[in-house]
Amino acid sequence: MWSVVLIFMAKILFIVALPTIHVVPNAITIGITEALHLECFIKSEDLSPTDSVISIGVLHSDNMNAHVFTTIASVSSFNGVRIITNSTNVHVVGSIVRNGLSSLNITWTSPLRENAGLYKCEVNEINELGKPITYDDTGSVAVNELTIDAVFSEIIKLKNRLEQINLNCVTSHEIEITEINRLKQNISVLVNQTSLLKDICETELVHVQDLESQNKLQLTSVENSVQSLTLKQDEMHGKWNASKNEYFISSERFSDKVYLLSRESVFFYPTFAQSLCALHGGYLVEVNTQAEFDFLKQFIRTYGSHFEHVYTGGTDENHEGVWLYRHSQTPVVPFWAPGEPNNDNKNFDENCEEFHKDLQWSMNDLQCSFPNSTVSGFICEVPV
Ligand SMILES: *[C@@H]1O[C@H](CO)[C@@H](O)[C@H](O)[C@H]1NC(C)=O
Ligand SMILES: *[C@@H]1O[C@H](CO)[C@@H](O)[C@H](O)[C@H]1NC(C)=O
Ligand SMILES: *[C@@H]1O[C@H](CO)[C@@H](O)[C@H](O)[C@H]1NC(C)=O
Ligand SMILES: *[C@@H]1O[C@H](CO)[C@@H](O)[C@H](O)[C@H]1NC(C)=O
Ligand SMILES: *[C@@H]1O[C@H](CO)[C@@H](O)[C@H](O)[C@H]1NC(C)=O
Ligand SMILES: *[C@@H]1O[C@H](CO)[C@@H](O)[C@H](O)[C@H]1NC(C)=O
Repeated sequence: MWSVVLIFMAKILFIVALPTIHVVPNAITIGITEALHLECFIKSEDLSPTDSVISIGVLHSDNMNAHVFTTIASVSSFNGVRIITNSTNVHVVGSIVRNGLSSLNITWTSPLRENAGLYKCEVNEINELGKPITYDDTGSVAVNELTIDAVFSEIIKLKNRLEQINLNCVTSHEIEITEINRLKQNISVLVNQTSLLKDICETELVHVQDLESQNKLQLTSVENSVQSLTLKQDEMHGKWNASKNEYFISSERFSDKVYLLSRESVFFYPTFAQSLCALHGGYLVEVNTQAEFDFLKQFIRTYGSHFEHVYTGGTDENHEGVWLYRHSQTPVVPFWAPGEPNNDNKNFDENCEEFHKDLQWSMNDLQCSFPNSTVSGFICEVPV
C-alpha cells in the first residue's frame, strides 16, 4: 500500500517515470481481427537521471481477475530480444536505448482467444546505488463475440447518429464538419474490425472513405452510403437467417463437429470465407486425423462432386513453406497428394490448401483466390 502511494507521489514529483503499455485494439474478434498490437515503452527523459533501464518484459495472464502472469517476451541490454511464448502468430521487436525510447512491441496476426487477457509491461531499472527497481503498467484485451446482430447494431447506431447530425447541421456548419469526420472515423473503425463488411460492402465504403472535402454535398453522400450499407445489411440479415441452407450444405455430425460445404455461388476469398464460417460459429476446416480426412472426402464426393477444388483453412501465406491452420495456428497435418505442395503455378503463389478432385480429393496447394466459384468451394468446421 505505502509503496503504491510512494510511487504515486514520486510520479507526481517526476522522480520516477512509469512505463506505458498500449494495446490496440482493446477487444479482438476471433477470425476477424487481423492484428493485435502491443507497445510497452519508457522514455529516458522521463527516468530519474541516475537510473538506467536494464530490461523490459511483457507478461500475460489469460485470466482477467486471477493475476497469474507468465513472461511472453523480453528485451535486455545484454541479451537482446527473447521470445518465450510458444505462439506461432507472434512477432516481437524491442530495444533498450540509453538516451531515447526503450521499447518492446508485440504483434499477433489473426489473434486467437488465448491472446486475450491482461498484459503487464514491466521495466527493470537500476538506480545510482546499483539497486534494481521494477515499475509496471497493465492493459487488457477482451474478446468480442461476433454476431451479425452486433454488426447491425453498430450500423443502426451510425444511422441514428447521422439523422441527428442532419438536424444539427442545419444550424451549424462547424458541427457538421466535425461530426462528419467522426462519423467517417467510426465507419472506418467498424469496417476495419469486420473484414466481412469490407468484402461485402466494398463499393459503399470506397464512397465513404473517398470523401475528402466536407460540405453539405458530402453529408448527403455519407448519408447515402450509410443508407446503402443499411439496406445491404437488411437484405443480408434475411440471408444470414437462411444462409446455412442458402450458402452451405451441412454434413452429418462427425465426432464433435459438423461441416458446412459452400454452394456454387459462394466465392472463396480467405478472410471472407473465414468470416462466413465465423458467423456460423466455426472456421475454415482443419483436418487433423485420417478418420476426419476420410469423412470429409466422402462428404465432398456426395455433395461437392461438381467442384474441382475445395479449400481448407491450411495456408502458408506470409510464412512460405510453413503450413499452418488459420484458426488454431497449428501445423497443417499432411494429407498431401504425392509431390504436393509444390507451388508450381508460374503466375500465382500457391498459398492455400485444397482438396483436389483430379488427385482423388487428396490435398494440393492452390492460389488463394480461384477466379471461378463454379468449380471451387470451401468447407467450414463448426464445433457442436
Ligand atoms: C512451450 O513448449 C514446450 C515444449 O512443448 C513446453 O515445455 C513449454 O512449457 C511451453 N512453454 C509455454 C510458455 O507454453
Ligand atoms: C515500438 O513502437 C513504438 C511506437 O510505434 C516505436 O516508436 C518504437 O520504435 C517501436 N520499437 C521498436 C524496437 O521497433
Ligand atoms: C463514434 O463512436 C464513439 C464510440 O463508440 C461514440 O461515442 C461516438 O458518438 C460516435 N460518433 C459518431 C459521430 O457516431
Ligand atoms: C483502417 O484500415 C486502413 C487500411 O489498413 C487504415 O489506413 C486506417 O487508418 C484504418 N482506420 C482505422 C480507424 O483504424
Ligand atoms: C432472423 O432471425 C432472428 C432470430 O431468429 C430474428 O429475430 C430476425 O427477425 C430474423 N430476421 C429476418 C430478416 O428474417
Ligand atoms: C467456370 O467453370 C465452368 C465449368 O468449367 C464454366 O462453364 C464457366 O464458363 C466458368 N466461368 C468462368 C467465369 O470462367
